[in-house]
Amino acid sequence: MFNHFDHMASIYDRLIPSPDFSKWRDLLRLPTEGSLLDAGGGTGRVSHHFRKWTGQVVVCDLSLPMLKKAKAKAGIRPLRTDVAGLPFRNETFDRVVVVDALHHFDHQERTLKELVRVLKKGGRIVIEEPDINRFPVKAAALVERLVLMGSKFHSPAAIRHMLRLAGVCAEIQPAPLFSAWIVADK
Ligand SMILES: C[S@@+](CC[C@H](N)C(=O)[O-])C[C@H]1O[C@@H](n2cnc3c(N)ncnc32)[C@H](O)[C@@H]1O
Repeated sequence: MFNHFDHMASIYDRLIPSPDFSKWRDLLRLPTEGSLLDAGGGTGRVSHHFRKWTGQVVVCDLSLPMLKKAKAKAGIRPLRTDVAGLPFRNETFDRVVVVDALHHFDHQERTLKELVRVLKKGGRIVIEEPDINRFPVKAAALVERLVLMGSKFHSPAAIRHMLRLAGVCAEIQPAPLFSAWIVADK
């Protein structure tokens, strides 16, 4: 099946502006000696910056070309897997992040349950997702539909509800570029 990200991997890191890493450091309550899972982490564009503040960074993704780019970044452990069924024991990770990827996952509720399952007690999950309530995101969602990306956007409140069903209580914060952070502690 055609995977858009396989074809974008070589230029992906140059397509998207770098985030504010000091903000991310606060959001994720870093540093930690434990490990961090980047679900749908692609090239490791964001999470390779967390390496210096964590024991280990694991990037899980379905796209091999994206993961190849992640592998080239120092200190990243890339793993090809569907995030709806993770090959990790319960409570493996101290932190879990999902950046701009949830709307690309086929099984979002199941995936959020998986992410909460592999998060340690006392750990934190942060999801950054374009806010579909905002007009520019609605326009981007239309473009993604036209190019058959199969994206399924949910509002920040709906994501918070899915996290609630997965067993954690989340709060919503505004994020740059018409996005939202949905943050929960286990
Ligand atoms: C828009 S990219 C975001 C990549 C990265 N989080 C970032 O912000 O740079 C979405 C990623 O989700 C991955 N993806 C989509 N469905 C997935 C699934 N079911 N399991 C794992 N990765 C998936 C894609 O291959 C792609 O690399």
